[in-house]
Amino acid sequence: MKTTGNTILIAGGTSGIGLALARRLHEAGNKVIVAGRRRRLLDEIAAEHGIEGELLDVTDESSIRRLFETVTAEHPQLNAVIAVAGIMRFEQVLDRDSLDIAERTVATNVLGPIRLVHAFAPFLTRQPDAAILTVTSGLAYVPLAGAPTYSATKAAVHAYTEALREQLRDTSVQVIEIAPPLVRTDLNGEATNNDRAMPLDEYVDETMRLLESQPDAAQILVDRVKPMRFAEADGTYDKVFAALAGR
Ligand SMILES: NC(=O)c1ccc[n+]([C@@H]2O[C@H](COP(=O)([O-])OP(=O)(O)OC[C@H]3O[C@@H](n4cnc5c(N)ncnc54)[C@H](OP(=O)(O)O)[C@@H]3O)[C@@H](O)[C@H]2O)c1
Repeated sequence: MKTTGNTILIAGGTSGIGLALARRLHEAGNKVIVAGRRRRLLDEIAAEHGIEGELLDVTDESSIRRLFETVTAEHPQLNAVIAVAGIMRFEQVLDRDSLDIAERTVATNVLGPIRLVHAFAPFLTRQPDAAILTVTSGLAYVPLAGAPTYSATKAAVHAYTEALREQLRDTSVQVIEIAPPLVRTDLNGEATNNDRAMPLDEYVDETMRLLESQPDAAQILVDRVKPMRFAEADGTYDKVFAALAGR
């Protein structure tokens, strides 16, 4: 994808990786619109960075429909959508409340991007140069035992993205998977906001460099995620899985 001159919607851009990408893409000469549930953050982002915001709850089909109507009416040149919105919670299957966590995780992380694709893909195919970007995780490739549903949602989005790319092969829409490693954000409290996690600035620097230097890339993989991404192929899967599980 080209990294300047786009009109980009970042669904899930009020904090963390989505916001950091929004700021970089805005600075790089793109029109950026961020969307999320927290109105206070949308207002702050507009005031501090001059980036427009829209309310969005990806678990609500009508909210996605409204977002589509508003954004395409106000920005008919929209040519890229980044589906970043996601939640991560630890679950213990023997705990009663873990089913609720699992269901909310699927609704946000799997149904969210699928609904976004259904809402925006037909419009994007009418643009001369378009892109859909999904956000998976290293955990799509080696699951974290403490977060089984989260890991499964990311594996699902990986598979969905591969199939989507093939379906849109003969259209103007490029389909890109961004698979981050552990990155320092508030996604899962101290489990992601810690010293072992890649600093957010470094992560977004490397991601922007990859987007710029590999305009045809199917996947954006910073070096830190490669041991997980290629564990199965490298024969290190069992070792990496056990290490993640803490044994
Ligand atoms: N940090 C990591 O280690 C890591 C690693 C691999 C992959 N990822 C993925 O990267 C993405 C961004 O996560 P992050 O680390 O940047 O965490 P974050 O700061 O918590 O960002 C999550 C974003 O998703 C939005 N979101 C959550 N539920 C939503 C909903 N129902 N509707 C609309 N927006 C929603 C949040 O906005 P509102 O709360 O305002 O709605 C927020 O902007 C996620 O998909 C995550 O799985 C993160």
